Amino acid sequence: MKVENDIISIGGVKAAELAETYGTPTYVYDESRIRENYRRALSAFQEYYPDFRFFYAVKACNNPAIVSILKSEGAGIDAASVNEILLAGKVGLGGEEVMFSGNFLSDDDIERGLESGVIFNLDDPSILPRVLKQGKPEIISFRVNPGYGKSNVGDFVTNAGPDAKFGVHPDRVMAAYKAAKDAGIKRFGAHMMPGSCITDPEYFSFITKLLMDIIGAAAKELSIDFEFIDLGGGLGIPYKHDEKGLDIKKAAKLVADTFTAKIAEYALKPPRLMMEPARYFVGDAGYIVGRVHSIKDSYKRIIGMDIGMNTLARPAMYGSYHHIYVDGKESASRARVGLCGQLCENTDFWVRERELPANIAEGDIVVVENAGAYGYSMSYQYNGRLRPAEVLVNDGRHALIRKREEFEDMVRSTTIPDWLAAE
Ligand code: LLP
Repeated sequence: MKVENDIISIGGVKAAELAETYGTPTYVYDESRIRENYRRALSAFQEYYPDFRFFYAVKACNNPAIVSILKSEGAGIDAASVNEILLAGKVGLGGEEVMFSGNFLSDDDIERGLESGVIFNLDDPSILPRVLKQGKPEIISFRVNPGYGKSNVGDFVTNAGPDAKFGVHPDRVMAAYKAAKDAGIKRFGAHMMPGSCITDPEYFSFITKLLMDIIGAAAKELSIDFEFIDLGGGLGIPYKHDEKGLDIKKAAKLVADTFTAKIAEYALKPPRLMMEPARYFVGDAGYIVGRVHSIKDSYKRIIGMDIGMNTLARPAMYGSYHHIYVDGKESASRARVGLCGQLCENTDFWVRERELPANIAEGDIVVVENAGAYGYSMSYQYNGRLRPAEVLVNDGRHALIRKREEFEDMVRSTTIPDWLAAE
């Protein structure tokens, strides 16, 4: 994104043109930025550990156009559900290019996961007998809870440690792999996902050590090899302008040093090193272009726009900060105002106070930054405020990649039972 003479453009396209062409609110993704983010991270990790691979966690931004960008860069897919496996298939990825890290799987999930031939990454050994009842996966991985988790998102985004619902308790990991080995499984991987939005490089080597001590012991005791070790996602981005970003080279070096040392310590056959980030690739490549519709002077000045917690859930859900720009007015003097969307919920008053251009007015175009991850994919239709459009921009080009929802989309899957229709 650029602000030149107060005029905002994204990927070489003016925000005003995007608003005019596609309406508001609209999610806008900058293709070049996604590719840059991916390449920066990949080259950092491959420099220090060449047998390295990324799987993109599609939950963060699941538009097939975005997924196909990451596929074209060489990423596999991390899928949380059968529908995300199908989404991977839509862009041409399947089998062992897809990791199925579902949580509390149903029998139907298991059946359809087995049919698709993806890598099963089980959240608990208790699921293994249910999987084996239906078939024998070629390769089994367990999601390990290494006993420690960290998050810069909010108190509730806890992916590991004693308060998390995820992963295999460290004391049960050995038994989990033994059960898989006893069932005749011959290929193994291991996984964890202990952190969200982490910008501290040391964290990544710390968790690598935790996992490798657990896995190293299991490999030795059970005489099994691990084909891959997946450290999960968690590569962070700064949301506030005074925050420091992640030094990705440093993180990669620290991880690779720890990983290599642990391979030697436990005399392991060197596994492929994997990560499955999402936010780092798409977070700062996505924006929401919206419009101010109404301004009210109440206990404070409140700016009412068409970007609400239904469009971007993160601030109301986690207290997350997203920077907001006003097109054409960025150099104006500032005043403290509140900003909200159009929903009948006061949590939709999602910026209680912010310094914004004092001359902000009805009709102005606003741009919300860092909205590419967990933005559209967590949006919803409450109050009949339907989901926005999605647009891809690249070097002056722009294209619609998802239509704005219409009333028909709101009622498409509903039926009125005969006995009511007759009334
Ligand atoms: N792998 C697994 C198994 C995950 O559960 C996640 C995210 C990722 C990878 C990707 O993590 P990332 O690289 O993006 O940190 N809605 C929250 C974030 C929840 C994270 C869920 N799991 C937010 O808006 O910040």
